Amino acid sequence: MWSNFERSMVRRGFYHCPIQGRNRLRQSVALVQNGHGMAIDSELRLAREGGTPARTGPERPMFPGGMEVGDEELAALERVIRSRNLFRYYGVGDGPQEVSAFEEELAAFMGSAHALCVNAGSSALICGLIGAGVGRGDEVIVPAYTWNATANAVLATGALPVLADVDDSLTIDPEDVERKLTPRTRALLSVHMRGNAANMRPLVDLASERGLALVEDVCQAAGASFEGRRLGTFGDVGAFSLQFNKIITTGEGGAMITDRRDVYETAIEVHDCAGPVRFGGQPPSFPGWNFRASELTGAVARVQLTRLDGLLERMRANHARLAAAVEQLPGLTLRRSNDVAGDAGVALIAYAETAALAADAADALRAEGVPAVQMYSPDVVDMHFYPFWRPVLDALTAAGMPAPECPRTLDLVGRAVHVDVPPQLDERDVEEYELALRKVALGVLV
Ligand SMILES: Cc1ncc(COP(=O)(O)O)c(C=O)c1O
Repeated sequence: MWSNFERSMVRRGFYHCPIQGRNRLRQSVALVQNGHGMAIDSELRLAREGGTPARTGPERPMFPGGMEVGDEELAALERVIRSRNLFRYYGVGDGPQEVSAFEEELAAFMGSAHALCVNAGSSALICGLIGAGVGRGDEVIVPAYTWNATANAVLATGALPVLADVDDSLTIDPEDVERKLTPRTRALLSVHMRGNAANMRPLVDLASERGLALVEDVCQAAGASFEGRRLGTFGDVGAFSLQFNKIITTGEGGAMITDRRDVYETAIEVHDCAGPVRFGGQPPSFPGWNFRASELTGAVARVQLTRLDGLLERMRANHARLAAAVEQLPGLTLRRSNDVAGDAGVALIAYAETAALAADAADALRAEGVPAVQMYSPDVVDMHFYPFWRPVLDALTAAGMPAPECPRTLDLVGRAVHVDVPPQLDERDVEEYELALRKVALGVLV
């Protein structure tokens, strides 16, 4: 904690003038140096205490690829409509090609041997888990912080999700994974949360030493990488979502990638009850569902894939600026990244010292016009957090397992302040976000 004297000096810009090169802040510092202390006081007065909100620009919704949907997607849809080939496996004329073309393009982009486009990220996970051999009687280790669809996918296979804590990267803690292993463990499911790679080295080693399948949930980190390699290619399977919030989107949709031919072939049976028969093969041995993607989805997915690297570049640049600003501010500690350069940059996440301070900081940021949230509060139902995963908790109880306890996860997410970083933020937006963060760090957290 800082002394009152230090705090007042910080407010006046004498210490920690970190955000060099940003015009408004430079002006503020200059005003102080010229003896106009009142001016900076009023510039840094919190909006919720009567100051001017930091944000003047428009709202920037967090639909990265969604907000870029335009003429190219329209042309792709028109191509499908005019062909009248709306179903991926048969049609008229030259026949359908969009879904299979997307699969080829996605596999090439990610560097994997096979891709299967499906109707949701959940379906991609189910296909991948079953493809990798997971089924009734098995346990799969999943992080205690992820969208509930991850754990639900394990339940859908008949297996039990066993919860492991996340570490300060907010991805699964490899040491807790080791503690959670039992003779029934069949697979590890790592989730690259909010764009940040899980620590893949120890997970890959553990899976190979113990003969376990490794499934990567890349739904929130499409295109991101770890040590120079795209996420989703480290394990047996990578699962992606194309739902509207995701980096690239078709509204709803998903895809599974794998290098393993056997996984791919089983996934075809899981995602389509007619599976291999469509290719002249034998009747399927697995009672598959219908997770097929339509040609409309395939056509839009192809366009969105061409946007992916550009979206990542813009989010990473914005994220790097905001992270550099936060690093210089008191009261906030950035979420640790397992690979700074590979991070998708979708979210600025920083820990306050206590959950109460995180809630207060998020409230003050919202008053400044920055859509911030305290990630977890026990009173707010949010399906990213295991205390709300009723079907998972019930399944564990029914199996005679103790109720999961992941205290480190709840401590971290309770202290975490989360700000989306859309690629659409422009220079002025970023400057205003920086100003808001500075105001709140100095006015709330010091
Ligand atoms: C981490 C994670 N896993 C799985 C999913 C499921 O994807 P979908 O909604 O496309 O089924 C999501 C989507 O929100 C997700 O964020």
